Amino acid sequence: MTDGDACVLAHDLTFSYPGGDPVLDLPELSIGTGERVFLYGPSGCGKTTLLSLVAGVLQPPPGTLQVLGHDVGALSSPARDRLRAAHIGYVFQMFNLIPYLDVRDNIALPVRITAARRNRLSGSLHQAVAETAAHLGIEDLLNEKVTRLSVGQQQRVAAARALLGDPELIIADEPTSALDQDRRRGFLELLFQNVQDAGSTLLFVSHDLTLSDLFDRSLSLAELNRAGA
Ligand SMILES: Nc1ncnc2c1ncn2[C@@H]1O[C@H](COP(=O)(O)OP(=O)(O)OP(=O)(O)O)[C@@H](O)[C@H]1O
Ligand SMILES: [Mg+2]
Repeated sequence: MTDGDACVLAHDLTFSYPGGDPVLDLPELSIGTGERVFLYGPSGCGKTTLLSLVAGVLQPPPGTLQVLGHDVGALSSPARDRLRAAHIGYVFQMFNLIPYLDVRDNIALPVRITAARRNRLSGSLHQAVAETAAHLGIEDLLNEKVTRLSVGQQQRVAAARALLGDPELIIADEPTSALDQDRRRGFLELLFQNVQDAGSTLLFVSHDLTLSDLFDRSLSLAELNRAGA
C-alpha cells in the first residue's frame, strides 16, 4: 500500500466494536494531500467510526490504514495520540472539551503539548488563541469554564482548538450542527481560509448536503462501505 500523494489511504479497512457486527468494510479509500472531502451518509452508517480510525482514537487492523504516511494500526495508543496532537485537528461530534479547563486552555491544549503545531504559529500562543477565538465570536468567553457555555459556543471552542497551529489534516464531524446561519458561515470561511493557507487536507462530515458544493469531492459512506450493505 503506497501512494506518495495520499494523506489518507485505506485498503480493505474493517472495523467492529467489541462483540458487535462489522461497522466498516471499506475496499478502498484515498484522500489526496490538500484535498477537501465531504463525507455523508445516514445516521449510524459509520461516519464517526471512520473519522475515529483516521484520527487514531480507535485502532484499525495493521496494514489497512495509512494516515500522513503512518500505518495507524501498527502504532501504540500513545503513539496514535502523539500523531493526532501534532498533525490532526479534530472537531469531535461530541466536542470532547476538557471540563476543568477554561475556554482559552481548551483551545491552546494541542498546541501547548506539541512543538510541531507551536512552531507554525506566526505570533505568540496567547495572540493566536485570541485571534482564532475572535474569528469564531467567542473572544469574550476565553476565561469561562467550558461547562458554562451553550452547545453552539462549545462547538466553536472545539473548532478553534482544531484549527490552531495549522494541522496537516483537519477532521470535522458535523462541526456546524449547533451553529446559527451567521456562525456557520463564519466558521466555514475560517475553516476554508485556514485549509487553503496551510495546504491542509480536510475531511468533513455533515448531514447538510447543501455544503457539499464547497468541497473538491463528495463521498457517500453507505456506497463505499460493504458492511451493512
Ligand atoms: N462506542 C461504541 N460501541 C459500540 N458500538 C458503537 C459505538 N459507537 C458507535 N457504535 C455503533 O457503530 C455504528 C456506527 O456508528 P457511528 O457513530 O460511526 O455512526 P454515524 O454515521 O457517525 O452516525 P450519526 O450520523 O448519527 O453521527 C452504529 O451502529 C453504532 O451503534
Ligand atoms: Mg457520527
